[in-house]
Amino acid sequence: MSRPVQLLPDQASTVAPRVDALFYFLCGISILVSLAIVGVIFYFAVRYRRRTVERGPMAGQVIDHEDTRRMEVAWIAIPLVVFLGIFYWGAKVFATMSEPPADALTVYVVGKRWMWKTQHAGGQREINQLHVPVGQPVKLVMTSEDVIHSFYVPAFRVKQDVLPGRYTTLWFEATSIGNFHLFCAEYCGTKHSQMVGEIVVMEPAAFQSWLGGGSGGTMAEAGEKRFGDLGCSTCHREEAQARGPHLRGLFGSSVKLQDGTTVVADESYLRESILDPRAKQVAGYEPIMPTYASQLGEEGVLELIAYIKSRPATGSAAPAAAPPPGGAPAPAPADAGNAPPHPAAADGGAP
Ligand code: CUA
Repeated sequence: MSRPVQLLPDQASTVAPRVDALFYFLCGISILVSLAIVGVIFYFAVRYRRRTVERGPMAGQVIDHEDTRRMEVAWIAIPLVVFLGIFYWGAKVFATMSEPPADALTVYVVGKRWMWKTQHAGGQREINQLHVPVGQPVKLVMTSEDVIHSFYVPAFRVKQDVLPGRYTTLWFEATSIGNFHLFCAEYCGTKHSQMVGEIVVMEPAAFQSWLGGGSGGTMAEAGEKRFGDLGCSTCHREEAQARGPHLRGLFGSSVKLQDGTTVVADESYLRESILDPRAKQVAGYEPIMPTYASQLGEEGVLELIAYIKSRPATGSAAPAAAPPPGGAPAPAPADAGNAPPHPAAADGGAP
């Protein structure tokens, strides 16, 4: 696969050729400009060299103002057009890389000194490994348990910092089967250089059977158990008198807050509301929810989020079936009293 002399790693994702094209263009233009400048330096050094006898041209001040004006316009206009072109090109590639496609498979990543922990929605956990199917966009929702790390897959040309206390995302679509290096690209302590792993890209069918080999329940099921164990279900019920908003159809919907503003219930909002419930108080409810920061690790929070995502606005609760982004928003929590009693209202297992 790899050639004896290779400037860059193999291209193994859909964005890799686009990143490389931009990189080669920047290198090429830098080489051209450098050669031109060095060439002119040598030419002038020889042609206008200091002579003992006056026999050739001597360096002097250019005094034709029309000439200098034309030169100024040229050296402002030409680089401006080139740089704006590079900016536009780079911005297009960046925009593609920062916007995961809607149909992307979500995988959760937790970095800690010094390992990568990954978990699939189906519950399969991995350490320093990530199995993904070829030809399908994969979105990573990532956080750190301690310090800043950086998730870097050279063959995919993607890198994203992984920060404690918040979620960052990264997406890629692998284009070839095989194993690819995963590195931590942010110095994070003595064993930073050992915080490595591999991305295993498989045929979709092989990936499906790999997923089937996992034991235990899905992330949503684990989250549902936590939801009951922690007593969340005592307040977050689908009843008019419930002390907390019910969470059906919450993920991806807009939530009205006490201060009149609205937020979209994405992963970061849910995480903050579990760990620091008063940061964004939902309109119509008392600020009585305690923090669960001491009872949940990052992985526990991700399981709760997977459970909340798995509960669609209406209909039967198909596990792990997240509502489509931008789909019909759920009724605002304050309207919970209008919702008809739901057969699944008792799920969560608590009285
Ligand atoms: Cu983690 Cu360097």
